[in-house]
Amino acid sequence: MQTRIIDGAALARRLRSELRDRAAELTARGYQPGLVAVRVGEDPASKVYVRTKMKASAEVGLHSEHVELPAATTETTLLERIAGFNRDPRIHGILVQLPLPPQISADNVLRAIAPEKDVDGFHPYNVGLLATGRPRFVPCTPAGVMAMLAAEEIALEGREAVVIGRSNIVGKPMAMLLLQKGATVTMCHSKTRDLAVHTSRADVLVAAVGRPNTVREEMIKPGAVVVDVGINRLPDGKLVGDVAFESALGKASHITPVPGGVGPMTVTMLMANTVLAAQLASESVS
Ligand code: GUN
Repeated sequence: MQTRIIDGAALARRLRSELRDRAAELTARGYQPGLVAVRVGEDPASKVYVRTKMKASAEVGLHSEHVELPAATTETTLLERIAGFNRDPRIHGILVQLPLPPQISADNVLRAIAPEKDVDGFHPYNVGLLATGRPRFVPCTPAGVMAMLAAEEIALEGREAVVIGRSNIVGKPMAMLLLQKGATVTMCHSKTRDLAVHTSRADVLVAAVGRPNTVREEMIKPGAVVVDVGINRLPDGKLVGDVAFESALGKASHITPVPGGVGPMTVTMLMANTVLAAQLASESVS
């Protein structure tokens, strides 16, 4: 079987160009979408991610602000900054990059973001909307995966979907979204006894673990759609996903590469959520 490699970077470019038009329209009406990204400490991966998000914001024409706070920042200080952005009419989306230093409770911080500015979709209110089938801000990585599956016209209704990883950021919302499309969803995680038993039944397999070679050729059902959410840096500096990519070629019907697969779509969905937040803000006063 010829495996189709899903080009996330190309789809991201197309969607960003549409978002640029929507952002320009909102800007002309006095609602330039505004995003603030807050990063605390010196985590090198977080620095790269936030820089990428800021670059995309400029590309789409958003007003963007980047706040960098020292690693010793207290929770109170961070909560005060968030309260300020909650009140700021130029800001429609607030993103606090995770992980946070140990003295700060991520739970407290995520709850402090106004739900209507929660463009990461991590506030319990937005998580609840997603869980009850009325999503507003959907977490960016699983939203990006769904956009890729839609663009490839991959049917989900009645199909077996297996998600590996149960994080709040990816695994859980991913399962919710697949469920809403009518897939039969299995969630696997670090305590799952025999991973291959589950993965080999998957028509759609999403790997979001953060460990190279978690999914190997023998674990993939012939013709399956394989989505690789992992971003792992090997000792030699090479970036790889959770799937042994080369070995899956010829077995899967579709696969997302790393890099150039899910990553650019995650950033694009953040742009989409910020444009949506500005649009909802404009509608709430007009
Ligand atoms: N850390 C890893 N992924 C994410 C994400 O999507 N949003 C935020 N805020 N932090 C993250």
